[in-house]
Amino acid sequence: MNSENLFEKLGAVLEPDILVPISDLGMLSQLSRRLSKYSVELFAYPAPAGYFDSLILKLEAAAAQEGVKLEINLKEMSEDQLAELESHLENLTLEAVPGGTDRVNRLMAAGTKTRILGFSSGKGGVGKSSVTVGIATALARRGHRVGILDADVYGFSIPKMLGIQRPPAVIGKVMVPPVAYGIKTMSVGYFVSDDTPVIWRGPMLHKALEQFLVDVYWGDIEYLCVDLPPGTGDVTLSLAEYLPKIETFVVTTPQDAAERVAQRSALAARKLKLPLRGVIENMSYFRGDDAKRYDIFGRGGGEKLAKSLNVPLLGSIPIDIPLREGGDVGEPVVMAQPESEVSVEFMRIAQVIEAMGPARIYKAELKVR
Ligand SMILES: Nc1ncnc2c1ncn2[C@@H]1O[C@H](COP(=O)(O)OP(=O)(O)OP(=O)(O)O)[C@@H](O)[C@H]1O
Ligand SMILES: [Mg+2]
Repeated sequence: MNSENLFEKLGAVLEPDILVPISDLGMLSQLSRRLSKYSVELFAYPAPAGYFDSLILKLEAAAAQEGVKLEINLKEMSEDQLAELESHLENLTLEAVPGGTDRVNRLMAAGTKTRILGFSSGKGGVGKSSVTVGIATALARRGHRVGILDADVYGFSIPKMLGIQRPPAVIGKVMVPPVAYGIKTMSVGYFVSDDTPVIWRGPMLHKALEQFLVDVYWGDIEYLCVDLPPGTGDVTLSLAEYLPKIETFVVTTPQDAAERVAQRSALAARKLKLPLRGVIENMSYFRGDDAKRYDIFGRGGGEKLAKSLNVPLLGSIPIDIPLREGGDVGEPVVMAQPESEVSVEFMRIAQVIEAMGPARIYKAELKVR
């Protein structure tokens, strides 16, 4: 192995949250070699302790694959290096508005290729967050670049469900969403502790969501899955303003009561002229050890709702114990048990969503302020 090849190999390692080769980010020094020993400097941007541990492990592993023992010295970036990284990341995040000097987040640019999938429900507890994570992980397993925006600002649960404990890094003006299972994630949960109630008024909520969209490096994700708050309120309205291309999916349980409430949320989405793409029924049945299907919450609610809204029922997610356990410990079932009935159903729904393509009709300008 010559040192040039090794250098190239190390440089190609992706930064764990930015998901860009570290050589493109100016994070790697030249290799130095003394006898058979190589060493390299890893230039770090300001981040909490331990932030680069996983990157160092990846670099060591890449070197070990070539039979090289590599010494990695973590060093703070100089001011110049940091300024360069900041402007590079800003350029990756923002895009010029045609005919003007303004720049907007790529995700919000008129021509963005990113599909925005919003998961809503009429009431809480129907499994909206579980379905958001299920579809997002399924899309990721199908080879897509995916992000999750936890817009359920009062009842955020995405960090826990994906097992993310570190806060986002902030590089200059840009926030870098923590990545888990290859998925970029942003949540209010990163900024408040679990036991602090979030008491925010409309304008603050609006501002927080705006930051999650405007100042976040989402990269070139193909899908942004949005966990919407239950019901319809300020947040959905704000999001509709920022993300005019949001497509909505209603999550419901088979129970009639849940279905009627769900219908309200769907009709509200219609009022906002957000394209409603389908219904996903959750907790549809339980498959016992006897292989029989038990309709614990009744049957047919999803189908009925889909019919009344004139959209397809995209799938039925069974009650699944590993799904719940995985959500509690941060190991999404689609990743941990890809062959299980529930994972196969998530994969199938993801494929259907993929195949239906983006909604064709977008609403005209909606102005809230
Ligand atoms: N299909 C399922 N099988 C088993 N448990 C499930 C299923 N779907 C959701 N759950 C569990 O039900 C609880 C509520 O689910 P989840 O948090 O996804 O719902 P939600 O609609 O997002 O609720 P909230 O309104 O609190 O945000 C969680 O403990 C979750 O693990
Ligand atoms: Mg939730």
